[in-house]
Formats: sequence, structure tokens, C-alpha cells
Amino acid sequence: MANGGIDRRQFFINSFSASLDLPKKNARALPSSQNYTFRLYPYGSVQFTDRRVSSPLSFAHVTDLHLTPYPAAQYPNPYRHAIEWWDLTFNRPHQVFPALLRDISAAGVDFVFFGGDNIDCYEPRIAQLIVNMANEYGLKVFLQSGNHDWEPMDMRYIHHMGIYNPALRTTTLRELCRYWNMPAPYYSFELKGVRFIALDCPYMKGNNVYAGFFDEEQTDWFTDQLRYTGPIVVFSHIPFDRPTVEYRRNKVLGQGGCVADDLNGRRILRAIEGCPNVLGTFTGHFHFRSEDEVGQSCQFMTAPASDGQWRYVKISRDPAPRSLRAAGAAEVFVER
Ligand SMILES: [Fe+2]
Ligand SMILES: [Fe+2]
Repeated sequence: MANGGIDRRQFFINSFSASLDLPKKNARALPSSQNYTFRLYPYGSVQFTDRRVSSPLSFAHVTDLHLTPYPAAQYPNPYRHAIEWWDLTFNRPHQVFPALLRDISAAGVDFVFFGGDNIDCYEPRIAQLIVNMANEYGLKVFLQSGNHDWEPMDMRYIHHMGIYNPALRTTTLRELCRYWNMPAPYYSFELKGVRFIALDCPYMKGNNVYAGFFDEEQTDWFTDQLRYTGPIVVFSHIPFDRPTVEYRRNKVLGQGGCVADDLNGRRILRAIEGCPNVLGTFTGHFHFRSEDEVGQSCQFMTAPASDGQWRYVKISRDPAPRSLRAAGAAEVFVER
């Protein structure tokens, strides 16, 4: 039933209350299998409220930094020109990165999650640079790979959007696991009672459009991970296709670019939609910000870090405040 079984009159009361920021009448009586609520702030920050979390936890979601091989002048042509072109297209990420880390450090988060396309192609020195610089700012980091992090320079800058090479991808991801301290290309970790799941979605052309394809092994692993009875956060560089994001996707990127609507893609999406413990799925890849409904939750697409963008996320047992930036409420002082 639409609106989770809420009768029509109560639905209008709740919609009206939400628009006025009023508490919902009989909110506790509404049927829901969801274990949490969340508030989205206009600039993209999110607070989840979950009674199961005993001490608050926060993280920064950072995606699509696209750190290029640097400096471009050190590389021979034909790479040099292409590197320079992408570096400018991505708004000079090497210049943006220190300011981004400074902002995140000032926000005081438990960790930073780098959500893929962290580097513009596989260059060990640049892969290591991300972790080293984040550590200089005192930040604990977790990472996942995107579709570009494993690509060799030839593939990225000469045969752009070229050939998918599963053997090379596997070998390079093994290297990236060492640089980025990942136990495997897909993995999970737990912090303060919250499980974080990082997916690894191979990305290639199928039926003439690019899409992400999960194999059966990862799909089985993922559905097993969702048996966790506490709060869960999912990270996937490649987004799940949502009708609400299609218009902008088509304008910016054209067709495709999402997790394939095949057997395994559907199994993972249905598992997220049906799991009352999944607070949200964090994604990137499209290089713009969006929030799109997935089951009772949301897919939070974060804008690119190469433009200085990132998303602050807090998980707490306390209700979400009016502002995450200013404590308390605005008060009127009358001068006497
Ligand atoms: Fe990207
Ligand atoms: Fe990407």
C-alpha cells in the first residue's frame, strides 16, 4: 500500500507537518519496519537518528577526486597533453585536495571514506599520496576503488573509455589494496556498532552502454553481510539506477552509467530495499549531487571532491538538530 499503510487523512497531516517542520501527530503509531530516521540538510549533510547507536559517529564521504599523475610535465607525450586536459577539466584536483582535507579536519569526523575515482588512473605514487596527505591532516581513511583507479595510463589517456581487462584489473586492485590498506577490493568494517560495507563494481560496456556488473560471489557475500542486526551503511562507487536521477544523468552523461539491471544487480538492489537496517547507500561517479529514494531509505550521491565537494554524515541516537553547523537554536536578545 502507498505510504506504508498510513491512511489518506493522516498522510496529509504528516505531509503538512513536515512542510512546517512540526512534530508528526501520532508519529509513534505509524507502522514502519525502519529502525531509524534521517534528516537531510540543504547543503547535503545528513544526520541519521538510530536508538541503537550508543555514541555518535561521523564520517566524510569523498568521491571522484581524480588525482592525476602529477606534475604533468614529468610525463612524456602523448600522456602529458591528455593529463593536462583532464587535470584542467577536473578543476586542478591537486590544488583543491589540501583545502578539502583542511575543511574535513576542521569538521572533526571519525573517518573519511574515499568512494572511488580517487586517482585518475593507476599511478602508485599518486595512490600513496592520498593516504599520506590525509594522515598529515590527522584523518583516518578507508577507501574503495572506482572505475578509473585501476586503469593504466595507456587505457586512460590514449584509448580512453577503452578496453575492460579483468586480469589487469584484478592485479592492479591487489596493488591498490596494499597502498590503501584494504583487506580486499570489497570488504566491510565496523565502528561504534555500525557496519560499513564497501562494494567493488566492475564497470564495462554491455548492450552498447556502460554499466556496473557484480558477480555472483560478491552478490552472495553482500546479501550475507546484510544479516547484521545493527545499523548498516553501504558504499558503491557506481550508483543504482533511480528514476529520479535519470533526467540529470541524461543531460550530464547520456545513457547508462549505473549498476546493470541484471540478476545480480537486481539481487543487490532488492536486498538493500528490503533491509530495515540499511541507513543509506553512498555513491558517486556521476559528478553531481543527488538524493534518491531506495526502498525506505536513500541513495546519497556526493558531488565530486575535485570541485572541493564532500558530504558530512552523522549517526547518533539523538534527534537531528535544526542545524548541524550551529548548536542550539537562534535566540532573540532584547537590548535594555
Ligand atoms: Fe569520476
Ligand atoms: Fe566513476
